[in-house]
Amino acid sequence: MATSSLSPITHSRIWSTQNRALSASQAVTARSGKFGGRRKKGLRVTAMATSIPASDRVPDMGKRKFMNLLLLGAVSLPTAAMVVPYALFFVPPRSGGGGGGTLAKDAAGNDVVASVWLKNHGPGNRTLTQGLKGDPTYLVVEDDGSLATYGINAVCTHLGCVVPWNAAENKFMCPCHGSQYNNQGKVVRGPAPLSLALAHANIDADDKVVFVPWVDTDFRTGEAPWWGA
Ligand code: FES
Repeated sequence: MATSSLSPITHSRIWSTQNRALSASQAVTARSGKFGGRRKKGLRVTAMATSIPASDRVPDMGKRKFMNLLLLGAVSLPTAAMVVPYALFFVPPRSGGGGGGTLAKDAAGNDVVASVWLKNHGPGNRTLTQGLKGDPTYLVVEDDGSLATYGINAVCTHLGCVVPWNAAENKFMCPCHGSQYNNQGKVVRGPAPLSLALAHANIDADDKVVFVPWVDTDFRTGEAPWWGA
């Protein structure tokens, strides 16, 4: 900021004849040189001065575009980071096996290899795995020691509790409201209105178990599948 004490006449001359903004150096010259010796009691002028030309104070188009891009990136990247995972939450998981099936996963999240599974699970065993759409699904070992060609969805058809296998009773018994299902998942006692859903349990070329939606007649009831595959 430069300050100068000038008479009204001198002041008007300066601004009318030069008709341009004072630079910092010019303001200092006017105060201490040409007009310094004629200082009188008069109008006090205060002027804002800068050494930067007005044209240089406005960023050129290239800089403005760059700043706009920078701003766009700063806003859009965090937004995308929040929106994309949220949107993916609503996309059903893709199948992990060939032919539209889903690879069965054990409790540790590993693919179930049929031969290994049968070594560790004897006849009559029913153990939970992760099945279609992530539903808990029992793999069944038949009495002859082979893997059953069906898996049993463990979600109770009453209100959705996961139904445990009771080996001593040879039944699936829901702890929530007492529904019971036989060893193939057919409902034998309410309040559950329907049998447990089924899925095909196939073995692929890599000896892995693959669950495939069950669209055939329910062999336990002779009816079309209520779960609509
Ligand atoms: S949720 Fe299984 S009996 Fe109610």
